[in-house]
Amino acid sequence: MALSIKISPILLVLLLSLVFLSSSASASTLEDFIECVSQNSDVSVPISTAFVTPNTSSFTPLLQSSAQNLRYLVPSAPKPEFIFTPLHDSHVQASVICSKKLGIHLRVRSGGHDYEGLSYVSQIETPFIVVDLGRLRTIDANIENNTAWVQAGATIGEVYYRISEKSRVHGFPAGLCTSLGVGGHITGGAYGSLMRKYGLGVDNVVDAKIVDVNGRILDREAMGEDLFWAIRGGGGASFGVILWWKIKLVPVPETVTVFTVAKTLEQGATKVLYKWQQVVDKLDEDLFIRAIIQPASKGKNSTERTIVTAFQALFLGDSTRLVQVMENSFPELGLTKKDCLEMSWIQSVLYIASFPSGTPPEVLLKGKSTFKNYFKAKSDFVKEPIPETALEGLWKRFLEEDSPLTLWTPYGGMMSKILESETPFPHRNGTVFMIQWLSLWLDGENDTAKHMDWVRTLYNYMAPYVSKFPRESYVNYRDLDLGKNKNNKSTSFIEASAWGNKYFKDNFDRLVSVKSKVDPDNFFRHEQSIPLLPSSAR
Ligand SMILES: Cc1cc2nc3c(=O)[nH]c(=O)nc-3n(C[C@H](O)[C@H](O)[C@H](O)COP(=O)(O)OP(=O)(O)OC[C@H]3O[C@@H](n4cnc5c(N)ncnc54)[C@H](O)[C@@H]3O)c2cc1C
Ligand SMILES: *[C@@H]1O[C@H](CO)[C@@H](O)[C@H](O)[C@H]1NC(C)=O
Ligand SMILES: *[C@@H]1O[C@H](CO)[C@@H](O)[C@H](O)[C@H]1NC(C)=O
Ligand SMILES: *[C@@H]1O[C@H](CO)[C@@H](O)[C@H](O)[C@H]1NC(C)=O
Ligand SMILES: *[C@@H]1O[C@H](CO)[C@@H](O)[C@H](O)[C@H]1NC(C)=O
Ligand SMILES: *[C@@H]1O[C@H](CO)[C@@H](O)[C@H](O)[C@H]1NC(C)=O
Ligand SMILES: *[C@@H]1O[C@H](CO)[C@@H](O)[C@H](O)[C@H]1NC(C)=O
Repeated sequence: MALSIKISPILLVLLLSLVFLSSSASASTLEDFIECVSQNSDVSVPISTAFVTPNTSSFTPLLQSSAQNLRYLVPSAPKPEFIFTPLHDSHVQASVICSKKLGIHLRVRSGGHDYEGLSYVSQIETPFIVVDLGRLRTIDANIENNTAWVQAGATIGEVYYRISEKSRVHGFPAGLCTSLGVGGHITGGAYGSLMRKYGLGVDNVVDAKIVDVNGRILDREAMGEDLFWAIRGGGGASFGVILWWKIKLVPVPETVTVFTVAKTLEQGATKVLYKWQQVVDKLDEDLFIRAIIQPASKGKNSTERTIVTAFQALFLGDSTRLVQVMENSFPELGLTKKDCLEMSWIQSVLYIASFPSGTPPEVLLKGKSTFKNYFKAKSDFVKEPIPETALEGLWKRFLEEDSPLTLWTPYGGMMSKILESETPFPHRNGTVFMIQWLSLWLDGENDTAKHMDWVRTLYNYMAPYVSKFPRESYVNYRDLDLGKNKNNKSTSFIEASAWGNKYFKDNFDRLVSVKSKVDPDNFFRHEQSIPLLPSSAR
């Protein structure tokens, strides 16, 4: 069918002038912004190289550099007017002051790992700009006092490296993936292989510096305990821009032990996984065993697939003690000394992040992620073991999808000892493990709908077996299916409770009240930012 579109001359003139107006408007926005930033930053650090516009060849590489979900890099995804890469804390202050003054929406990016691309794509507002903190990545580890000041644009792998460079017996409990940016990562919780012993990243933060909505830099004392509470788990980009975290280092033994023991369905994976669910939150706190579950082909030349469950562990001790602990508490896995690898803590970081064995730790200074995919993910929290029959149904669904993956992370230990209200992150005592559901694909936009459907159907299937009222979710596994703020003006408190209660349970109300106090005009906002109290209640 041939389509002919007739455009009247008047409409054409109108359209052209709109195009003209919008491009000249953005050129002057940039000029005004540069001018404003120069006036409002108090240092002589030149900013001429800090602005990148879409009409230059460095724009796409910079936009894509740290963005982790290819789903939000497709041509149809909204693009920022320009990217600003501050070189100094005062540039970040100025960017808040100036975007407010010029009325242009701002997104902040640290490590770019947001699951729904919120740090570099706005679905609810045009135009918008991205302030990318990738050039602010100083780390100052103070071993004598067990602390470190880390700047928001650093990756968590760089933090681990800088600690290990100064001491073999200090570490920090945060994410497993080393390319995460500490700005976004820690503010949403930050779990990893030391969580059963030491809790989350947020449980080990002792101070912070943030830029508030008025462009002021506030430390813990200046921001007060309410705001300091909110930024330790309330999720990114609702309260201000985090510039620095002061973290508390934790002790790790000189020698730790890791292992990965994989079981296929034919080797009894279902029964072992069932047992894992019964013991995993009660194990010795030095032991963290997660389960990584995905389909694999049955043999080298086989087109038939099975499910492989890889039990991957970090133990804070040597292999002799580990084997004893396993014999006493989880003999069904059949762990032997041959399965165990002893190493330093920093080497265990590389092992768990899947770097090839022998990779030198300096690789962490590159801050690069090892893979990128199109993906859709969701999370769940489990309070009682999932029955074997339900697992069988899960495997059937997994075998119908191209590249599904699920990661099961054990709780218990320190996680159970911290009160739900101590930080906004509420998934504590009573949680046996957390699940992340994923489908990954590399074939572009073609099959997006199919894979998204698969994840959503799986999520419905699992509803009876996971937490209820609310069905809890991890804010750092951002999931816009749970609901979103529709536009920049009306952020309804009632609507936002739909996801707010899942991410924060009873802490949501306190987050809303802190938000209403520190950002009453809702300057820091995105698809799932913390909403304001209805104005009548303020
Ligand atoms: C491959 C992969 C592995 C992961 N592994 C883990 C894991 O092991 N443990 C875990 O807990 N989580 C994990 N996550 C989730 C991760 O913690 C979140 O995606 C986190 O938000 C990433 O932070 P970022 O700075 O890299 O991302 P960004 O996309 O830069 O930011 C995420 C959000 O925070 C906001 N934000 C960014 N910087 C700042 C700042 N300085 N101040 C205020 N707001 C800011 C952004 O605007 C955005 O809304 C993983 C994610 C991926 C993609
Ligand atoms: C790109 O666009 C900006 C305005 O958005 C303009 O100031 C600049 O001169 C342009 N650069 C090039 C190389 O065209
Ligand atoms: C909301 O967005 C619209 C268009 O995207 C814009 O005109 C308006 O100024 C924005 N409002 C605020 C409060 O920023
Ligand atoms: C550690 O803290 C003490 C007490 O606050 C202080 O005197 C000392 O200088 C600190 N050490 C370092 C290396 O900063
Ligand atoms: C797999 O197939 C290849 C080529 O078809 C053959 O050379 C090889 O021996 C096969 N391997 C096994 C384990 O069957
Ligand atoms: C955790 O919950 C269980 C069951 O409700 C309870 O027996 C236990 O005392 C709680 N532990 C802590 C540390 O609060
Ligand atoms: C998507 O589908 C189109 C049409 O079927 C095909 O030409 C294209 O190669 C596909 N793209 C990818 C990345 O698979």
